[in-house]
Amino acid sequence: MRKIEEKAARAFTERFGEAPEMVASAPGRVNLIGEYTDFNGGFVLPCAIDRRIAAAVGLAPDGEGVLFSADFDEERSPGADPDGTWADYPRGVAWAMSRKGAEVPAFRAAFAGNVPLGSGLSSSAAIEAATALALDALLGLGTSKKDLALLCQKAENDFVGVPSGIMDQYASLLSSAGSALLIDCRSLDDEPVLLDLEGANLTLLVCDTRVERGLADTGYRDRRETCEDAARALGVQELRDASEKDLDRLTGDELKRARHVVRENARVLEAVRALRKGDFAAFGRLMYDSHLSLRDDFEVSTPELDAFVEAAREAGAPGARLTGAGFGGCAVALVAGAEAEALADFVRRKFQKEDFEEPAFYRFRPAAGAEVSGRLS
Ligand code: GLA
Repeated sequence: MRKIEEKAARAFTERFGEAPEMVASAPGRVNLIGEYTDFNGGFVLPCAIDRRIAAAVGLAPDGEGVLFSADFDEERSPGADPDGTWADYPRGVAWAMSRKGAEVPAFRAAFAGNVPLGSGLSSSAAIEAATALALDALLGLGTSKKDLALLCQKAENDFVGVPSGIMDQYASLLSSAGSALLIDCRSLDDEPVLLDLEGANLTLLVCDTRVERGLADTGYRDRRETCEDAARALGVQELRDASEKDLDRLTGDELKRARHVVRENARVLEAVRALRKGDFAAFGRLMYDSHLSLRDDFEVSTPELDAFVEAAREAGAPGARLTGAGFGGCAVALVAGAEAEALADFVRRKFQKEDFEEPAFYRFRPAAGAEVSGRLS
């Protein structure tokens, strides 16, 4: 078992006086390219990170369900209505399972994690995926990981109330170690794309700007609606079906948002071709292009995210861009392993000069998706 899984199992045993029946864990993700394309039926290329949330679960013998967070040292009820806390994610998953017709008996769960929270690294998808996989195994339902991803998205959309696409839950459940995952968000087909960073002496440096993101906030919702309006105006099912030529028929915000989506989809496919050739220089250029498009056309960047990307460019990093929904949160740079520390220092000084919050830095390896680590009793 991984350490984080042991921690969740121990928390369960200490809290409930007996060992859990099942433990599963799921990773956060960093998106390499393909932003705001998922809910437009397009392509994304995230990879799972080596930070996870573990869920230890067991049936509640007295019929009293309990959710316990070892990190917050806090108990919540699984059957309660959403209350804006961490517990909404496991609650939402249990709710979505019942909605799909599964008999979900009263259960107890303990959670432990090391995915940075609220930074745009999908801690919410990680706790959803870990819960879904653990419960699915506990109840012997045998649901496919793809269907679990859809179920987690339903929990997020209809229970938590965040209108997100499928990328985060899909990446958390289906990624494989050492690879990024190309996902076609319309067909829900996927393909691992080898990400041999070590072989190229490169690393992914993630900068957490520590600017709170409000994904449930209007920014995300507005962008989604404008994309849907643009698709309607063009008479296509989703912006996935729009072409560069179609853009001539749009104006204003619809034009800007659609232009980002059409070009970002093309960039993802080009980025995959570059990775397959081991051409990280080309891959990095596409990351920079993606950032500019997110800044100028999709308008989801912030001065901090721009400052990081600019610093990466000045330092000669092959690529950098904001990652996730933007409006704060994280940016990611593709940088020579030996230069990552220097880039982080350079950015720290730059942020200080600008009077920004002190950023946090992480280096991640492309990690495995959600896994059950075992039936324990
Ligand atoms: C968030 C959502 C995803 C996706 C990204 C933007 O992470 O959860 O579904 O839309 O924003 O690419």
